[in-house]
Amino acid sequence: MSTSYTFSVTRNPSAASAAERAKVLENPGFGNFMTDHMVMVDWTLDDGWGEGKVVPYGPLQLDPSASVLHYGQEIFEGLKAYRHADGSVWGFRPQANAERFNRSARRLAMTELPEHLFVDACQAIVEADLDWVPSGGETSLYLRPFMIASEPFLGVRSAHRYTFMVIASPAGAYFSGGIKPVDIWVSEEYTRAAPGGTGAAKCGGNYAASLIAQQQAAEHGCQQVCFLDAVERRWIEELGGMNVYFVYGDEKIVTPELSGTILEGITRDSILTLAREQGHTVVEQRVDINEVRADIESGAITEIFACGTAAVVTPIGSLQSADSKSVVQSSEPGADTLGIREALLDIQYGRTPDTHGWMHRFA
Ligand SMILES: Cc1ncc(COP(=O)(O)O)c(C=O)c1O
Repeated sequence: MSTSYTFSVTRNPSAASAAERAKVLENPGFGNFMTDHMVMVDWTLDDGWGEGKVVPYGPLQLDPSASVLHYGQEIFEGLKAYRHADGSVWGFRPQANAERFNRSARRLAMTELPEHLFVDACQAIVEADLDWVPSGGETSLYLRPFMIASEPFLGVRSAHRYTFMVIASPAGAYFSGGIKPVDIWVSEEYTRAAPGGTGAAKCGGNYAASLIAQQQAAEHGCQQVCFLDAVERRWIEELGGMNVYFVYGDEKIVTPELSGTILEGITRDSILTLAREQGHTVVEQRVDINEVRADIESGAITEIFACGTAAVVTPIGSLQSADSKSVVQSSEPGADTLGIREALLDIQYGRTPDTHGWMHRFA
């Protein structure tokens, strides 16, 4: 496949050997290993977007006064390239990531990126590092497009120079030992995003603000943290890196509505469609943590799951906080959770027809 934006390619003279690569791909985990190349494109106020380059992966030369290091103008995306049984490699809704990237750019007062440049850059790294796309099981090549304010300037204003990049990292199956429900810590002390803030943007600062709550979750034996709204501490927003769904038996599936403070997940959006196609009634609305606890207690809530690009669909076993613990499903994932998970994976891995035009061929 060829891209419409032209990228010059400088091959990495110290690229991993086939044997080294094979060793990494045996058990890549998540985010541990980077491929041999990266994409770079610079933007300046005077000249706009420059030449797209695929270059050897390596450290950046960044002026210590670059504004990203001081004022945090940084946005990113995360999407995966999936190898299908015939060897072809596909992205899942990369155009949606491109659109979200630009929404994040607008919120952070950064320059926007032509959407085709975003998608072509993803394609360029996949083409350059095609041998790094794993095959088999639920493996993939995770793509991380991001943009930083690279202007050397200490004044507080939006920068006049940005660097857009894409790096890539092979990813193994998220659940290596079978799909097990995770325990969630509901953070009553810390919030992630406030109305009018940056919660709906995918910017590094949101994650920096969430890490202390994630640490607390770990201290309480939970794998993930769930945030409540910043005003009333009552409405469930999302997890540190995933959206969340509540299954009310055969009656309905509920997910928190997009309030401006949660990230509009592409998995979340895709599940709205897939669950409806499976015959579920799906509702986007405000979700009260107290009602959720009562509905778990009464058995009205039968399953809870989180969703996002990295882990696809993850069953949630319990919601815990300082003085409460509500157990939904302690050891086995529920049937609806698994059904939705499979439907999504079948599309992503090309096992079922892509009737929504979600898949984009990279190579
Ligand atoms: C805060 C947050 N919410 C939700 C998601 C899920 O989004 P997506 O389904 O687009 O990966 C992510 C992951 O990107 C995230 O970081």
